[in-house]
Amino acid sequence: MANTNDWWRTAVIYQVYPRSFADSNGDGIGDLPGITSRLDALSELGIDAIWLSPFMTSPQKDAGYDVADYCDVDPLFGTLADFDALLEGAHARGMRVVVDLVPNHSSSEHPWFQEALAAGPGSAERARYVFRDGKGENGELPPNNWLSVFGGPAWTRVADGSWYLHIFDSSQPDFDWANPWVHERFREILRFWLDRGADGFRVDVAHGLVKADGLPDYTPNPDLASMGGDEELAPYWGQEGVHEVYRDWRKVLEEYGGDRVLIGEAWVMPLARMADWVRSDEMHQTFNFGYLETPWDAAALRAIVDESLAAFGGVGAPSTWVLSNHDVIRHPSRLALVPPPPQGEGIGPRTQPKPDHEVGLRRGRAATAFMLALPGSAYVYQGEELGLPEVADLPDEARQDPTFLRTEGRNYGRDGCRVPIPWEAGAPAAGFNTSGASWLPQPAGWDGFARDAQRGVPESTLEFYRSTLTVRRDRGLAVGSIDWLPSEPQVLALRNGDVTIVANTGSAPVPLPDGDVLVASGPVADGMLPGDTTVWLV
Ligand code: NOJ
Ligand code: CA
Repeated sequence: MANTNDWWRTAVIYQVYPRSFADSNGDGIGDLPGITSRLDALSELGIDAIWLSPFMTSPQKDAGYDVADYCDVDPLFGTLADFDALLEGAHARGMRVVVDLVPNHSSSEHPWFQEALAAGPGSAERARYVFRDGKGENGELPPNNWLSVFGGPAWTRVADGSWYLHIFDSSQPDFDWANPWVHERFREILRFWLDRGADGFRVDVAHGLVKADGLPDYTPNPDLASMGGDEELAPYWGQEGVHEVYRDWRKVLEEYGGDRVLIGEAWVMPLARMADWVRSDEMHQTFNFGYLETPWDAAALRAIVDESLAAFGGVGAPSTWVLSNHDVIRHPSRLALVPPPPQGEGIGPRTQPKPDHEVGLRRGRAATAFMLALPGSAYVYQGEELGLPEVADLPDEARQDPTFLRTEGRNYGRDGCRVPIPWEAGAPAAGFNTSGASWLPQPAGWDGFARDAQRGVPESTLEFYRSTLTVRRDRGLAVGSIDWLPSEPQVLALRNGDVTIVANTGSAPVPLPDGDVLVASGPVADGMLPGDTTVWLV
């Protein structure tokens, strides 16, 4: 590969959510051979790396973020040989592959947890997880007041009366990272995938592994993001000891030639604090959730871009930019809702008002064009290159996110961004497979977004993504730096190298500066830049 060890500083990393990408055997669930069969589409898009959400052995209580064997592929998704073939196919096309690693918790069906249950209180096996005695006369009350991110208590009682901690679903017991045994196991897991050739890891809940001594009571602020890290003081997020884990892992990665990466899902604010995760001896980059949560508003965007470049630049790391992933409302729908619902609430049949798809797509493309002009590394979530909206009309019985189940339907959760993506207009399941089965129902008209219907159509969202990524690379925007230019309040204007970027976040058209248009997120005419539109000019 032509890339240097620092490839990640400028990379466009495409998130594949395996169960919804492409299904090779028609069972309605996407799989690894499905991904391999579609690698040309990703290569053609012009991305540098693929991040695969979990495909390891799992009872799928949280769509694979509940791992029962860290070193094998779930039969739903294929085999280790299928993984090797995917990796080979990606590498042959110059794309790297980053694997999702879930170290905060395992599945309750993991043999390590099953052994802990069988071995009983006080055993070495129990010490792998966070077991505690309950409060109350007979230990009938949970050890503290912590709540699960998905709703309900964060503790579950087992038959012998002990309680175990689960910051997420009761099927996801938290490891005890105070135990060296756990560190040993995860070093082995890293090596297992690195030996197979994986280019790195996206680390799930990278802010959560270490809990404060004594597990003190804590009541979360209900107004803050449910994945956690907006809460500065939570005794289960962002504890100092977690950094030692990544310093250790970084050393393991360095043994493999220096081009493997650690990407943290470290949902901690402010960004200056998140930057602690990417100090030079820790991870390589973190998802910029501060940016993802910023509304489509010029002043707010300018402030978060400055804050991001200062925070990450201050520790020598690139900023990343991200608008969508498998946990949030797809950004074209989200940006059409002002204000957006809190993370985890999702949207569904009861949501009022509904996002306007036309406004959403226009704004979503404008937001993407702005994001891809910024220096650093950018993330694209499968389907955003097709302009997919959040699916808001999933019937209750189809929903599978534990958030929906654990809040008794109060929060719709994340299924609406996880619907299998369309490939071919008019084909069964819109080309997701050939059987027509789909683990979440695709809405009517879904195939209108199909890749084959957009390929070669200049004004399509797919061709917009493709050409924007090409220009981003050709003009070196990812390695550049930015200078803001004077502009009207609802407009963002900046220079990156020889490119001028102008984004109109308002609704009224503004005059377009002189120059040749390299990229336009929507139609521009008569020297005017319409609302919700971004252009790149030289
Ligand atoms: C963050 C993942 O992105 C999310 O999908 C998952 O539910 C939680 N971590 C728990 O693993
Ligand atoms: Ca399948």
